[in-house]
Amino acid sequence: METKGKVDVLLGLQWGDEGKGKVVDVLTPMYDVVARFQGGPNAGHTLEFEGEKYVLRSIPSGIFQGGKTNIIGNGVVLAPDLFMAEALELEKTGHPLKERLHISKKAHLIMPTHRLLDRANEAVKGKDKVGTTGKGIGPTYTDKVSRNGLRVGDILHRFEEKYRAHKERHLAMLHALGWTDLTGLEEAEARWMEGVEFMKQFSLVDSEHEINAVLRNGRRILCEGAQGTMLDVDFGSYPFVTSSNTICAGACTGLGIGPNRIGEVFGIMKAYCTRVGSGPFPTELFDETGKKIRDLGHEYGAVTGRERRCGWIDLIQLKYSVMLNGVTQLIMMKSDVLDSFGTIKACVGYLLPNGEETTDLPYELDGVKPIYKEFDGWCTDMTHFTSEEQFPEKFRNYVDFLEGFLETPIKVISIGPDRAQTIIRK
Ligand code: GDP
Ligand code: IMO
Ligand code: MG
Repeated sequence: METKGKVDVLLGLQWGDEGKGKVVDVLTPMYDVVARFQGGPNAGHTLEFEGEKYVLRSIPSGIFQGGKTNIIGNGVVLAPDLFMAEALELEKTGHPLKERLHISKKAHLIMPTHRLLDRANEAVKGKDKVGTTGKGIGPTYTDKVSRNGLRVGDILHRFEEKYRAHKERHLAMLHALGWTDLTGLEEAEARWMEGVEFMKQFSLVDSEHEINAVLRNGRRILCEGAQGTMLDVDFGSYPFVTSSNTICAGACTGLGIGPNRIGEVFGIMKAYCTRVGSGPFPTELFDETGKKIRDLGHEYGAVTGRERRCGWIDLIQLKYSVMLNGVTQLIMMKSDVLDSFGTIKACVGYLLPNGEETTDLPYELDGVKPIYKEFDGWCTDMTHFTSEEQFPEKFRNYVDFLEGFLETPIKVISIGPDRAQTIIRK
């Protein structure tokens, strides 16, 4: 694989939580730099190795493989208090960050009042709420786009004054939304300001220059996406989406990389599908099968602990995601979760409310019914396998079908949460 002079991008193809963190960690030894390009502490990327488990929110998942530079890019939104807590926790477990982690001065800051605005916006929406993570993501990106944002670089110049002006504006907005509960704001602000001081110990950089210099020197970069394609603000199940571009193009704007610099695009998908928060999910299962997937897959949110909604893999949705991202290789996660199912289903078409069938993702997902193809389950515990030769025939059939339908090779199959439970296919 020729990666020189190119960046490779790794991203989620479904509604997030596909297992991106694990794969970034597995692939990091092939790279010099790992960079996050969008999202913020709404992400929860889980890594397991040597009997330990870590959940990363804002820090890139390349941080555990020594000697690599990790960059938080301009497209990310960062909460200094949460960042400090995450960084201190990692340092406590013996993973020093200061030399290895660089933060873009152009990344936007999530203020405590952004989190209140997130809650207030949701309260106003009532039953139509998005079900956000409550981390202030939407209000922070809104301020960025409306040219009212506060950036990491601002902490170095006249910061107190800027902070106060932004806070006043937010308080007026909260008032207009009818949100009067400011409990805990002062304490949150104190921790936040501590976080700002803490951040000053890190290299605050012009990451677009740094990244392009790395490329010129022939070194290799892996871009780590957060969330998933169906949560993309343009192409996801709007308005039940996040507020950033989660697709491959987001790596260009979120890091300052020319589109012609994109090399491999790794699309991460589960062998089934999950979603947290509100919004349409055509293959969602409300029965015992859905519950079994949730139990076996431990499908509870890494950030909020919320139950994840579970369903069968949706190939119409995935075909759309492969198209939008220009996926060159698929990586299938959590196949082990299906190890004990007698029958496995994959959605290969949609029946629209008007009775028509389609294989293209429609504008409106509400009310579409999945058309399934059924497969015999492989009923084999694969969690200890070490090579693809061990895969049972029924599992190969399933994988062959997915590759054919999505017209993209599945190059890696994950058979358990541990770094070691990863099969790289030839
Ligand atoms: P991310 O947000 O895409 O990084 O994914 P999350 O970390 O939120 O969710 C994925 C969950 O599945 C985590 O708890 C992982 O430890 C776990 N996981 C990852 N790959 C596998 C796998 O192949 N099998 C099983 N059983 N669990 C996995
Ligand atoms: P990772 O990177 C799954 C969902 C929320 C909500 C919607 C908007 O771990 O895959 P937001 O707080 O972003 O305004 O919430 O997006 N969401 C995620 N779901 N995984 C994530 O990240 C998510 N980040 C946001 O549940 O429905
Ligand atoms: Mg997650």
